[in-house]
Amino acid sequence: MTQQAHGVTQAQKDALWMPYTANRQFKSSPRIVSGAEGNYLIDDTGRKVFDGLSGLWTCGAGHNRPEIAEAVARQLTTLDYAPAFQYGHTLAFELAERLAAMAPADINQVFFTNSGSEAADTATKIARAYWRQQGQPTKTRIIGRAKGYHGASWGGISFGGIGANRKMWGPAMESDHLSHTLLADQPFCKGMPDTGAHLAEELIEMVALHDASNIAAVIVEPLAGSAGVIIPPVGYLRRLRELCDEHDILLIFDEVITGFGRTGHLFGANAFDVVPDMINVAKQLTNGAVPMGAVMTRQFIYDTVTGAGGPEYNIELPHGYTYSGHPVACAAAMAALDVLEQESLVSRVSELSPYFEKAVHSLAGLPFVKGIRNFGFAAGFTIESYPGEPARRPFELAMSLWDKGYYVRYGGDTLQLGIPFTTEKFEIDNLINAMHDTLSNA
Ligand SMILES: Cc1ncc(COP(=O)(O)O)c(C=O)c1O
Repeated sequence: MTQQAHGVTQAQKDALWMPYTANRQFKSSPRIVSGAEGNYLIDDTGRKVFDGLSGLWTCGAGHNRPEIAEAVARQLTTLDYAPAFQYGHTLAFELAERLAAMAPADINQVFFTNSGSEAADTATKIARAYWRQQGQPTKTRIIGRAKGYHGASWGGISFGGIGANRKMWGPAMESDHLSHTLLADQPFCKGMPDTGAHLAEELIEMVALHDASNIAAVIVEPLAGSAGVIIPPVGYLRRLRELCDEHDILLIFDEVITGFGRTGHLFGANAFDVVPDMINVAKQLTNGAVPMGAVMTRQFIYDTVTGAGGPEYNIELPHGYTYSGHPVACAAAMAALDVLEQESLVSRVSELSPYFEKAVHSLAGLPFVKGIRNFGFAAGFTIESYPGEPARRPFELAMSLWDKGYYVRYGGDTLQLGIPFTTEKFEIDNLINAMHDTLSNA
């Protein structure tokens, strides 16, 4: 064996092509996570690092929850796998019923996936299937939003709106994009910006351009996470909802980050009081312990697609995954939802978010901080760029914070926080002090 560097041999480093990672930089200076405990990651030197992004917006209830571990272990020796197609197992139905009860209004049909990317593909395929079965097969185009993130599949990179994720690949699905809602005149904004609802009117231009007869759905994150935490302006999502209704376009909320508590409400739909036609979830659904996602739809969508399904033995929606509703993922999700409910974590986020808000905005005025936004337990910071190198300073700041024992997300010209729902006030203080120190000395 060659010499161990940071707990990983050279040959091991050579073998792994890491996702969404600067492979060359990482392999010259690895950041290896060997364990986790509650709100902390533990690196390969045994150092505790505060998890300022809850994993990847996944582990709101903290890491290594014994309740989830026990449920998963039990499931692995009860039913490790059941065929997902044409046969079912009880836990998938139980979880679907539970999710349907949690979701707003008549969003009560649940289709399981393994990730947020698959949820984005699934929701947009369902949208097209819905219109086809309504006799409108030309309604295929998906309208996303600039700076939107919906995963890494062909669908996600088409209607997603983060340039760096799109430009490598060439053409994929037919899509178009509304403008993002990061407003230049409100760089430092607590909660929802009070102007900007007018940006929803751009959907009228999209309709003029493509015609509603060619548009299947609009997909947006209620609160955009990956592009740097962009909060919807007051009235914006409501206006999108109205325009979708007016033009017979389905509205999909991608709640892969906002689902299950991040906003201080169960869903972004609750936080912003707008009911979409579909809600995509993943990440927090199992507290990150086992991959799982889902698309939840309103009843009329299921009724239309299955109603036009032909003879009863026919498969109405020829779509699904080997691991859709995997028993172990279902067990993890049931246990994760138990923890969320038993510890009232959603209301905990709501109660502590004013404290978090005050803390993150205390960084205004420090060098390189060009903007700060927050909602619930999410915050984004726009960082002044080196000329022509927008992504460099956030990377440098995040590395410096990692060295100090704090993990934060860096992406584009932003830093992002998505602290665990179980974070204590002193941990918020420590994190913000470390950021203060890092920015002051940058
Ligand atoms: C809003 C949103 N949608 C979709 C995805 C993709 O999820 P996954 O990485 O599980 O495919 C993400 C991931 O960050 C996300 O934030």
